[in-house]
Amino acid sequence: MAAVYHDRIRIVITGKGGVGKTTLTALLARCFAQQGCHVLAVDGDPQQNLAATLGLPPDQAITPLADRKNYIEEKIGAGPGRGGLMVLNPDTADVVDRFGIPAGENIRLLVMGGVRNAGTGCLCPEYTLLAAVLRNAGVLPDDVVLLDTPAGLEHFGRAVAQGFTLALIVSDGSFNALSVAKELRRLARECGIRDVILAVNRVEQGTDRQELREKIGNEFPAIRFIPADPCVGRHEPSVGPVIDEGCPVVEAVQGLVRDILARR
Ligand SMILES: Nc1ncnc2c1ncn2[C@@H]1O[C@H](COP(=O)(O)OP(=O)(O)OP(=O)(O)O)[C@@H](O)[C@H]1O
Ligand SMILES: [Mg+2]
Repeated sequence: MAAVYHDRIRIVITGKGGVGKTTLTALLARCFAQQGCHVLAVDGDPQQNLAATLGLPPDQAITPLADRKNYIEEKIGAGPGRGGLMVLNPDTADVVDRFGIPAGENIRLLVMGGVRNAGTGCLCPEYTLLAAVLRNAGVLPDDVVLLDTPAGLEHFGRAVAQGFTLALIVSDGSFNALSVAKELRRLARECGIRDVILAVNRVEQGTDRQELREKIGNEFPAIRFIPADPCVGRHEPSVGPVIDEGCPVVEAVQGLVRDILARR
């Protein structure tokens, strides 16, 4: 098994549905890459919209890892019902070199895909493989790994907690999204994720930040505000032109990247 490098950056991006997780993941990927980091963006959402957000053509066919039957069999074994014993902690350090898709300078994309019965603790080979990749994110060769997750809490499984050291919790300024953010903060602490940053996204110009801070309370030691930027909607799904045009949201995300690099 390859060495785990503790100075590498492993970030899980989570938060309530629709708050901007995928958009921020893609913007972060581009901004880290601009700093010279080699970035792996992992799409952990079965909806699989990170590719288009990173600027890949929407019609580009991508086989998700969960559908790579040969790889799963090679790593996990035959699985139940086929007579074989499963390998529960395979060496998946080669996964990005084999299946990572170039997604811009210094950026690769890995699409996990959906696993039926995920979250029910099933021991199917697909789930076992995906969990192993997440748990062993530390051995992947990339400087920065960003994991985009679906809405909700279920991705805070043990595998993510073992492989990722920073939870970027995304919210907007609404009571409901902030409530989910606080719950995620609690879960992150409980499962041992070392660091947490709250990113309050889509903050409208003229918002009273002090008032917003009071609404957030004092549960988050680090908070970043990301402006609502019409540029994002104008160019969606891709963040490429948002970066190229230097839209206002980019400066905020660059600030977030500087914060994260300073934490190492
Ligand atoms: N800072 C921003 N300014 C303006 N629009 C934004 C901003 N961030 C995200 N958006 C828009 O908000 C919508 C939701 O964003 P996104 O898909 O990234 O959210 P999500 O949290 O990944 O959603 P889901 O939970 O469905 O995966 C998109 O239309 C996106 O373009
Ligand atoms: Mg998303």
